[in-house]
Amino acid sequence: MDAISVIRTKRDRGELTPEQIDWVIDAYTRGEVADEQMSALAMAILLNGMNRTEIARWTAAMIASGERMNFRALSRPTTDKHSTGGVGDKITLPLAPLVAACGAAVPQLSGRGLGHTGGTLDKLESIPGWRAHLSNEEMLNVLDTTGAVICAAGDGLAPADKKLYALRDVTGTVEAIPLIASSIMSKKIAEGTGALVLDVKVGSGAFMKTIEDARELASTMVALGTDSGVRTVALLTDMSTPLGLTAGNALEVRESVEVLAGGGPQDVVDLTLALAREMLDAAGLKDADPEKALSDGSAMDVWRRMISAQGGDPDASLPTAREHHIITAPASGVLTRLDAYDVGVAAWRLGAGRARKEDPVQAGAGVELHAKPGDTVTEGQPLMTLHTDTPEKFDYALKALPDAYDIAPTGTPFAPLPVVRERIA
Ligand code: URA
Repeated sequence: MDAISVIRTKRDRGELTPEQIDWVIDAYTRGEVADEQMSALAMAILLNGMNRTEIARWTAAMIASGERMNFRALSRPTTDKHSTGGVGDKITLPLAPLVAACGAAVPQLSGRGLGHTGGTLDKLESIPGWRAHLSNEEMLNVLDTTGAVICAAGDGLAPADKKLYALRDVTGTVEAIPLIASSIMSKKIAEGTGALVLDVKVGSGAFMKTIEDARELASTMVALGTDSGVRTVALLTDMSTPLGLTAGNALEVRESVEVLAGGGPQDVVDLTLALAREMLDAAGLKDADPEKALSDGSAMDVWRRMISAQGGDPDASLPTAREHHIITAPASGVLTRLDAYDVGVAAWRLGAGRARKEDPVQAGAGVELHAKPGDTVTEGQPLMTLHTDTPEKFDYALKALPDAYDIAPTGTPFAPLPVVRERIA
């Protein structure tokens, strides 16, 4: 077998054989297939696609590149959530302790932000002392004792995906449904969760800009999970506007704690509860009452224990940025659009995100929103506050925002999109 013949098959719109797929993933993981060859293959896949049989084999080969975990020793059923990523998407933070408070075990292996979408680990690292990197034993111990753990995936889990994802990121080959589906599902299946709820974002701030593409990605992933014995459900959720009122690391932790305390923005609460119900249902805990666990403080108790178990201080003050810039409404009326992508880019440019994998992030940087689509605003009132430690970034961030919102005359009808647009099982 050789890399050139595999590339040619896909370049010429052929179907990759199981042997070709197994060989190329294994040889790439071992360094025998070069990065330039794998990037040519990834581009051929992006342009010419893979059918469901090829995707299933590609996923299996990526799982086989590393270790498989299992949680069979735990007394509770495991259930996990994966979001395809968005702006202000802090849902994992209140969701994992909430679902644990209802009786499930939530092994939440999470990632870092790249580009305009935030990363759960970057957000949690704004809590003084909190550690993202745990050994497998530590992870199991936190999961067993608190019911939830949010941490970085170990190096042993789907190493082929780690290498390939980094390559796709710098070769313009991220946005391919077969590659996204196999990347996400190889990690989730190798992780060993019994049930999985996929939050597939759709809209300007998401990978999937149209509902048709989101449906295709969701149904591909649901089929991969189900065929591997993982009870898998997907919700297609709105990412045309940021979730909640904050985009940025410590800003989002603060908002998540508000949700755990029984408050917080309605869209964040609604999505957290919708995903919690799906996760509990998929775990067989149909009588659990996540609304009660939010209101009676039991989800907050799990959060505090989970943060402490990973070295964090749940009572510590969160970092705030040194400098602020307020953007005011240029006219009175109804805010009819606030674009997720533009706000995400502004937060990223302020220092909340990174341009390269090795860049540091600023804990306090980001965008705070003072109005959401559907709200009535008055000329001169604050619309957004930009936060950063490095004020020279304001100009660059502001350049992302001139077309970020529309204000229509007062009385203009406004029909909000539902947070959950579709369910695919
Ligand atoms: N998240 C992943 O883990 N992989 C992708 O390909 C895209 C998003």
